Amino acid sequence: MRIVVANQKGGVGKTTTAVNLSAALALMGDRVLLVDGDSQANASLGVGLINKVPNLYHVLIGEVPLEKAVYPTSVKNLFCVPSSPDLIGVDAELKGNGDWEYRLRNVLRGTNYDWIIIDTPPSLGTLTILALTAADKVIIPVQAEYYALEGLGQLLETLKYVINLLNPRLELMGVLVAMYDRRIRLSKEVYEELRRYFGDKLFKSVIPRNVKLAEAPSFGKPGVVYDPTSKGSIAYMQLAKEIRDAKAKSFRKGA
Ligand SMILES: Nc1ncnc2c1ncn2[C@@H]1O[C@H](COP(=O)(O)OP(=O)(O)OP(=O)(O)O)[C@@H](O)[C@H]1O
Ligand SMILES: [Mg+2]
Repeated sequence: MRIVVANQKGGVGKTTTAVNLSAALALMGDRVLLVDGDSQANASLGVGLINKVPNLYHVLIGEVPLEKAVYPTSVKNLFCVPSSPDLIGVDAELKGNGDWEYRLRNVLRGTNYDWIIIDTPPSLGTLTILALTAADKVIIPVQAEYYALEGLGQLLETLKYVINLLNPRLELMGVLVAMYDRRIRLSKEVYEELRRYFGDKLFKSVIPRNVKLAEAPSFGKPGVVYDPTSKGSIAYMQLAKEIRDAKAKSFRKGA
């Protein structure tokens, strides 16, 4: 299953979610490929990969096959296609080429992972469209703040556009509260508002604000590996379980 983590709003926990969900699923024994679709390369850093060449850029422009840009990480079962600032050039390289939207989907075809998790930049530009076109499901991380819902309309419109024109398989998997502050009353109110708006599309797992999650990238490790007992890690393990259970249930339904 291919999951893209998207929200054009910056700093809402996309990368932290992509990295920790990937690592949590890998720790549970699944084979996972983390694809860093952001030129900021934060997800790559989060699994200890810095300035790797070739990377996603070279794959997207057709210079190397995907396998050449898949790197192992220090986490068993977790592999990563890293990014670098090179990726900024993807816009200019791909635009004007017919069918550019399918580039990532095509390069991922035939890969053999239980999960492919794709991180995206804080925009609804080229890389987010490439990721949405390649995916089965979308996770939208939001902060439990006043303006959590602001901008979501635009994101949902983009999803609709991609579903109608590029990728009819794509579905919203869920909205994730990714930096919940228990001490702030507002968090609870915003959570309730999200629940009313998204119903069962709001993940039951909630990620608390937790300093260990923020520290982990500077050690080149996912939070769930850096400090498995922290509240943030436990929450991401719970999210991974929720997602695995949902997948198992949908398989049973389909059978
Ligand atoms: N649950 C959390 N608790 C504490 N800090 C967090 C948590 N989640 C993320 N952070 C920190 O908040 C900052 C933003 O998170 P992150 O990079 O995951 O967001 P993003 O949506 O990927 O940002 P961008 O839009 O720039 O790509 C980072 O410094 C990260 O370490
Ligand atoms: Mg990010």
